[in-house]
Parts: sequence; structure tokens; C-alpha cells
Amino acid sequence: MDSRLLCCVALGLLGVGTWGTGVFQTPKYLLTQMGTKTSLECEQKLNHDSMYWYKQDSKKLLKAMFSYNNKLLIGNETVPSRFSPESPDKAHLNLHIDSLEPGDSAMYFCASS
Ligand SMILES: *[C@@H]1O[C@H](CO)[C@@H](O)[C@H](O)[C@H]1NC(C)=O
Repeated sequence: MDSRLLCCVALGLLGVGTWGTGVFQTPKYLLTQMGTKTSLECEQKLNHDSMYWYKQDSKKLLKAMFSYNNKLLIGNETVPSRFSPESPDKAHLNLHIDSLEPGDSAMYFCASS
């Protein structure tokens, strides 16, 4: 059997806030099946106006995904439409991912400023 069919999508989240900076990502680690949908949540308690999602792929390249300022999308580094960010208020930026693909396996970082 094609081993790729058995494979899963691993999403790692390492909150910058894990080290006490006030940014919290949940869940921390996620192993899920391709084709499913999932959500990554991020909250910051720093009263910042801007929030960001970055993706670090297996080649260790850190890429900007989305930037938000005060609930408004201000940056989209041509992320596929399977990724839909949602900012219910300026302290939260959630990332919903539809129909997971192998290339989505990565570390996802949330940040605020
Ligand atoms: C981001 O840009 C891509 C490419 O233009 C587009 O397909 C996608 O829908 C955009 N995402 C959002 C959340 O606007």
C-alpha cells in the first residue's frame, strides 16, 4: 500500500506564549488525518492590536501567512483558501484549515505586536 495513504498531517504549535510572553496557542500538538478539517486557536493577553500566523515547514523556513490589525485582515501571503483565519476580537486569531494535505504538516506560530 502506498505509505502516503497511511500518513497523517502533524500540526505542531509552539506558542511564543509558552515561555510567558502572553500569547497562547491551542492545541499544542495535533496529529490528524488528511482530508479532515481542524482549527488552531490563538489568544494574546498583551492588549496588542496586531496578530499574525506563521508557518514553519520541514525545511525550517518560516513563512508569514496572515496578519490582522484590530480584527481586520491586512496581510495574506497568498495562503490557499483552505485556510480561513477568523478574528472574533483583536485578542484572538483562529486558523481554520479545511481538507488537510500532507504539505500542511508543519509548526504553526502565532504572534502579536
Ligand atoms: C488569501 O489569498 C489567496 C490567494 O489570493 C486567496 O485564494 C485566499 O482566499 C485569501 N485568503 C483570505 C482569508 O483572504
